[in-house]
Amino acid sequence: MATRHIISIGDFDRDGIDQLLDHAEQIDNRKYDAGALGGRILAVLFFEPSTRTRMSFESAMARLGGTSLSVGSVDACSMAKGETLADTIRVVSGYADAIVIRHPKEGAARLAAEFSTVPVINAGDGAGQHPSQTLLDLYTIRQSMPIDGIDVALIGDLRYGRTAHSLASALSLYNARLHTISPKGLELPSNLVMDLREKGMEITEHDDIREIIGLVDVLYVTRIQRERFPDSASYFNVATSYRITPELLADAKKHLIVLHPLPRVDEIDPRVDDSPHARYFEQSKNGVPVRMAMLMRVLQ
Ligand code: NCD
Repeated sequence: MATRHIISIGDFDRDGIDQLLDHAEQIDNRKYDAGALGGRILAVLFFEPSTRTRMSFESAMARLGGTSLSVGSVDACSMAKGETLADTIRVVSGYADAIVIRHPKEGAARLAAEFSTVPVINAGDGAGQHPSQTLLDLYTIRQSMPIDGIDVALIGDLRYGRTAHSLASALSLYNARLHTISPKGLELPSNLVMDLREKGMEITEHDDIREIIGLVDVLYVTRIQRERFPDSASYFNVATSYRITPELLADAKKHLIVLHPLPRVDEIDPRVDDSPHARYFEQSKNGVPVRMAMLMRVLQ
């Protein structure tokens, strides 16, 4: 049987996503075997900062009775001596039963999968994809409303934001309508927009979130991906160009939910945290059952 990597959200069809989310829901309801992955080892190879993704994968592995291995910081591993990613992966796949990788270069996870003899999960490849985030985003939406046919506003850095790329692709499987709002120059990549429109997705660009706040069901906010900017001047030009406030949400539908993959910087006013619309902390918590379902999928 072919190795079951998870590199892009496109590796799933709609049934595959629904099955995984159903499984995550069972796990959330404590219907799982806490020894299911006993004796199995997950290598956690993170070449970029992470709090949620890394810790929730490690927590997921531990809750299923498995163990995680990591090199600590990037500076502490042999890539700092000039070892290639391909060689690192060849070696690490001899030490573990699966690899979760985060890397600053787009395509790195795909490359890793070519050299790995064990399943590879992409935990973010530069400005590319972030499939595990998308699965937990969809899971969080599903807790509040059926995903089919909803209106979703994506606001922020849609050019470099990998969570936005994966989520937009997944939503096209649910006939959702997409509304995009981004600072100039940080729009959703045109090849992705073309691809999604070809699949029949309705995508509308707006200048200001206020134009559509009253008609959307989900507001997905993202951080400006400062680390991907060529220089700091171009970052400061756009850094403070949007902010979600309680005043803005006063015009929202009653059931609107606000999501954010986190970390946030200034784009959501902390006063929004107490609003019934805010779901971003539940969203990050959902990372554990969703990643437990993912680990069981690739390791069992
Ligand atoms: C996101 C990422 O790394 O792409 N974080 C996460 O995994 N929750 C979003 C971000 O860093 O802005």
